[in-house]
Amino acid sequence: MRIDFNNMLDTAVGEHGITMAEVEAEAAKVPAVHAAMTAKKDEMAWRALPYNQDAIARDITDKGNWINDHFQNFVVLGIGGSALGSKALFTGTKHLRYNELKRAERAGCRFYVVDNVDPDGIQALFDIIDPAETCFHVISKSGNTVETMSQFMIVLHMLKETIGDDFMRNIVLTTDKETGILRNIANAYNMTPYVVPDGVGGRFSVLSPVGLVSAAVLGLDIQMLFEGARKADEKCTKSDLYENPAYMYAMLQTIAMHKGCNISVMMPYADGLANTAEWYAQLWAESLGKQYDLSGEIVHAGQTPVRALGVTDQHSQIQLYTEGPFDKVITFVGVENFDTVMPIPKPPIDVQDASYLEGQTLNKLIASELAATEYAVTQAGKMNMMVTLSELGPVELSEFLFFLEMATAAAGEFLGINAFDQPGVEAGKIATFALMGRSGYEEKAKELSSPKAQNDKFIFEL
Ligand code: PA5
Repeated sequence: MRIDFNNMLDTAVGEHGITMAEVEAEAAKVPAVHAAMTAKKDEMAWRALPYNQDAIARDITDKGNWINDHFQNFVVLGIGGSALGSKALFTGTKHLRYNELKRAERAGCRFYVVDNVDPDGIQALFDIIDPAETCFHVISKSGNTVETMSQFMIVLHMLKETIGDDFMRNIVLTTDKETGILRNIANAYNMTPYVVPDGVGGRFSVLSPVGLVSAAVLGLDIQMLFEGARKADEKCTKSDLYENPAYMYAMLQTIAMHKGCNISVMMPYADGLANTAEWYAQLWAESLGKQYDLSGEIVHAGQTPVRALGVTDQHSQIQLYTEGPFDKVITFVGVENFDTVMPIPKPPIDVQDASYLEGQTLNKLIASELAATEYAVTQAGKMNMMVTLSELGPVELSEFLFFLEMATAAAGEFLGINAFDQPGVEAGKIATFALMGRSGYEEKAKELSSPKAQNDKFIFEL
């Protein structure tokens, strides 16, 4: 992996770029950032995942093989950090039409992630899978999440209807070691769930059983995922800013935020990385979007992540990125070697002025479009950086994901906020419990049902 930060600097983008004086001022915080990153072992237990899971990795690999031997489909039921890592691993490492391949061409089961409660979305999946032939991995660290629990209840009912009393055979659980409804269910049914270790928040859990069970079912070598993460870790634990790409990413983004760049665009030029951009969006948003800093001052910190996809979004968002406000930082991600080399042949008709494409490759085209767009936004004075992955495989992807986790944690330290909680998610969760009639939430239900002041002039019925 290569990361070039030069286009963040005023020397590349001009007056809206970061000056060396700004770098030096913010760099003064690096020793304190490093001390906090080193001290916060409990909150950052996810940093140990590439090193301390050899036994669990063997067990999960066996489980993945067993699932592939006994089922046709594998479905992850989870949301947020309990789902997005699996999605990133799936599209980032496997055939882009994996589920449409014949069984012999796949590592095993067809693979699905259900991370919404849209009834049509859930029904659409049930229309194409046979529950009896499907293994469901139910993931919830808290074990209480309303979306995951309701999906789970629907699946349990369906399994009981189709296969009778042995329905738990089709279920794998991952949850907290002690608490939550999922843990209680596991105890009641004598099941041994996989555990999300303490200090591993959902959005930092991709290398825990949360993502590893998916990896095993997809036939990935879990040790290769650990190898990639360790490669990133080796660099991202250095104390020196100029040797630590996570600190550099975090510091430059922090300076950019202070300069009013409140949007962080992640724009990979590879279909396989679209879900990695989605994973990053959650990681960056939920970790850094905070009302209070560590001393309790109101700061309303954070940078809105935006997912874009090259080249598709060159014909959608790039106009804004180039000519719109100076309010964003773009992280381009390129892949040097795709699995496929796709030549553009000479077609059997005269394509006239398009003939310059004959004999070239889509590989050259996508690389050229990435270079051209980087050039255009840089010329337009917009801050950007370039991440280059040599290829898309488990080592490269895991290295990138772990780097982003370290960068996010470090950004939390530069901003002086707690990157590991999510109090802003709670208000919506509580209101949902109240609206769905959960006991203990009666007061909130009353509050929600009381009439709101509203101006009818601002309501349209069409
Ligand atoms: O990153 C996080 O902590 C969240 O996105 C959670 O993963 C998400 O809310 C789901 O929570 P749980 O795994 O407890 O069901």
